Amino acid sequence: MSSKKVLLSGVKPTGRPHVGNYFGAMKQFVELQGKFENYIFVADLHALTTVQSREEMEENTVGVLLDYMAIGLDPKDVTIYKQSDVPQVAELTWIFSCLTTMPYLMRAHAFKDAEAKNKEINVGVFNYPLLMAADILLPGADVVPVGQDQKQHVEIARDTAEKFNRVFGETFKLPEAMILESVATVPGTDGRKMSKSYGNTIPLFATDEEIEKAVMSIVTDSGSDIPENVYAIHSLLRDKEELDAMYAANKGQYKKLKELLIEDLKTLITPMRERRQALEEDKSAVLEVLKAGGKVAQKRIEEKMEEVREKVGLKLY
Ligand code: ADP
Ligand code: TRP
Repeated sequence: MSSKKVLLSGVKPTGRPHVGNYFGAMKQFVELQGKFENYIFVADLHALTTVQSREEMEENTVGVLLDYMAIGLDPKDVTIYKQSDVPQVAELTWIFSCLTTMPYLMRAHAFKDAEAKNKEINVGVFNYPLLMAADILLPGADVVPVGQDQKQHVEIARDTAEKFNRVFGETFKLPEAMILESVATVPGTDGRKMSKSYGNTIPLFATDEEIEKAVMSIVTDSGSDIPENVYAIHSLLRDKEELDAMYAANKGQYKKLKELLIEDLKTLITPMRERRQALEEDKSAVLEVLKAGGKVAQKRIEEKMEEVREKVGLKLY
């Protein structure tokens, strides 16, 4: 068995990924692939809380898989799978649901936000953190690279592991969130957190026109020499020193600075977009990756689940 620590993370198939997803989380998956034993999955069961169309779910799921491969995840180094291929996570979610109190889950940010917006909240949204705890704990993750907005979910996974261990005996490792401070919350074109739900994103696989349109729409206040929102996004792409020199040389020239950002974004995005297009040509080969990864994950997860069933008293033979 590998002596490397276990890294695990997932992305929901809910639409096109954006630059915030990339810098906040996905880029770390690629950079750390040799250093850990890696499990990266498509969180289709989580997406069911909002995606309720077969076509959309199928298309988005293949989409995330293509995204993973296009940014450079290598199936030789990373077990790439889809969550629904390891249904044990749903089984463990039920067990966790019986250990966790309602007031505890009511403190979760995502639930409180949905409640504050007077949304109709399905039980899946309420239970979402426990499914995520099962995702993290079953394969025995040590570290979970995510953006700042997922920190509380990883804490809930830790609490849930501790509770289970207390009640049924030592079973689960306690995971840690891995959050890069510099990119914890990538701002969108309006300065708020970049998010699909705010319509302020720069798509990760954007076409040249989309990049230009998104950057030109970045909100700037005319009061200062440096357009803060442009600078904030640009700082993802260049060292501080280099960037400061660039902004000093083009003081107050918002249009020029936006053009420079467009150029740098194109340098980042174009090769990834082209790789994604090439992968799309042979979807069946890409799906084989998911199938094979599912088998590997399934084996590991089923072993742990057998231990859980035994500890809980569900395994008589
Ligand atoms: P969204 O908020 O756009 O729906 P997701 O919830 O699908 O994004 O997030 C996928 C991953 O990307 C998570 O690890 C999340 O923490 C990270 N992430 C999302 N938006 C940002 C952002 N603006 N800055 C940094 N990380 C982000
Ligand atoms: N909740 C995460 C998000 O919205 C996706 C996710 C599901 C996840 N299960 C996970 C992330 C386990 C890390 C580990 O982005």
